[in-house]
Amino acid sequence: MTGAGYSLVPFFVLLWILTLTSPCVFMQSCVLLCSFQGGSDVVVHWILTGDLHVHSYYHNQDQLGNQDQTFRGRTSLFKEQISGGNASLQLTGVRVQDQHRYRCHTSTERGSRNSYVSLKVDAPVRKIHIEQVGNRITCSSEGIYPKPELTWSMDPPSSSKNTTTVHQTEQQLYNISSSLILSDPVPDVIYSCRISTRTNTRRTTLRNTASLTAWSSETSVPCSASNTSLTDFSLIWRFNHSQTILIQTRTHVPGTVSEDWRKHVRSVSESGSLVLQGLSSDQEGTYTCELSNNQETYVSNTVLIIEKGRGTGVILGAVVGVVVVVLVVAVAAPVLYFTRRTTQTGAGPVVSFILCSK
Ligand SMILES: *[C@@H]1O[C@H](CO)[C@@H](O)[C@H](O)[C@H]1NC(C)=O
Ligand SMILES: *[C@@H]1O[C@H](CO)[C@@H](O)[C@H](O)[C@H]1NC(C)=O
Ligand SMILES: *[C@@H]1O[C@H](CO)[C@@H](O)[C@H](O)[C@H]1NC(C)=O
Ligand SMILES: *[C@@H]1O[C@H](CO)[C@@H](O)[C@H](O)[C@H]1NC(C)=O
Ligand SMILES: *[C@@H]1O[C@H](CO)[C@@H](O)[C@H](O)[C@H]1NC(C)=O
Repeated sequence: MTGAGYSLVPFFVLLWILTLTSPCVFMQSCVLLCSFQGGSDVVVHWILTGDLHVHSYYHNQDQLGNQDQTFRGRTSLFKEQISGGNASLQLTGVRVQDQHRYRCHTSTERGSRNSYVSLKVDAPVRKIHIEQVGNRITCSSEGIYPKPELTWSMDPPSSSKNTTTVHQTEQQLYNISSSLILSDPVPDVIYSCRISTRTNTRRTTLRNTASLTAWSSETSVPCSASNTSLTDFSLIWRFNHSQTILIQTRTHVPGTVSEDWRKHVRSVSESGSLVLQGLSSDQEGTYTCELSNNQETYVSNTVLIIEKGRGTGVILGAVVGVVVVVLVVAVAAPVLYFTRRTTQTGAGPVVSFILCSK
């Protein structure tokens, strides 16, 4: 009896000290593990420090009379597994406020035990938004937990003034935003913003390429965001930062062209270039190519200038000009020649001079 007691003590001490950690994702469901020997007439209490009742079970059914209201409708046990020794608790719609150390108390006719589980909430970095207005580039992301970190880098490297602000939302998640002030905006610098938290890191890069001039009604705008293989990325083309031209995902190739752009988009090349047709000055503006996978996003802006209209205008003007000159000369020359000839002799060379100067 004493011997059995001795060998049991370290075992129970170990169970008391041992606290499992349960990583949960914000707004998803999560299982807090708890196991015991099993048996009949099982009593299960999930309790927080301060005696807050999370979930209870006895007389073969849930007993939610004392349940704290913050857990209402969000807890359940795996009923058919309880007699077999599984008292794990499923919690749905996990919030940051659910981060606690939970006690699982079980008892049967064979005895009782307590075990502890720490619930840890993570809200990974999802989308990073990057945009440039004037000489200010802003990078931001929302709904992150725990507190994220943000770093800028540039290729070629240089340093600029940057300010980062972090706000905590009502749900205790973090919104982060950082602005980089460019002292000397030059094309083809790659600005990269990296945001990381405990579970993940995402990076977004922005690149402004030199402007592109289209000389005909057709042109191809390269997606110079990256030289990475397109197969791993989804692709979005935008116009003037607002209109969506095309969306292409890894599984959905060649993608969907928006209604307004059907007549202008001929195709998308394998490297992501946008092949445009039927261009007029209405299609002049900024074309943005955005490539993203679940870790990185590459954004590149290209300003397209369309010279087609102006080009033919200039040529037409020149042709009309030449014709007018020729006509004037053709009419004026004989008249001039004739008049000069009648008034003075040797006027031929003078007329030739006028002709040349025209
Ligand atoms: C209890 O059941 C849940 C749900 O089926 C399962 O995820 C968990 O691994 C089980 N726990 C044990 C200790 O068997
Ligand atoms: C951002 O600002 C910090 C100090 O405020 C500076 O150490 C860092 O180099 C800056 N980053 C860039 C990319 O300029
Ligand atoms: C955080 O971002 C969300 C989504 O953009 C916004 O609705 C909310 O107002 C922001 N909260 C704070 C405190 O900045
Ligand atoms: C493009 O490729 C070069 C060399 O192959 C590499 O050094 C560079 O990092 C790549 N750029 C991007 C944006 O992936
Ligand atoms: C697109 O942006 C350019 C430059 O800001 C502007 O001149 C043009 O009018 C815009 N086009 C449309 C259709 O909004």
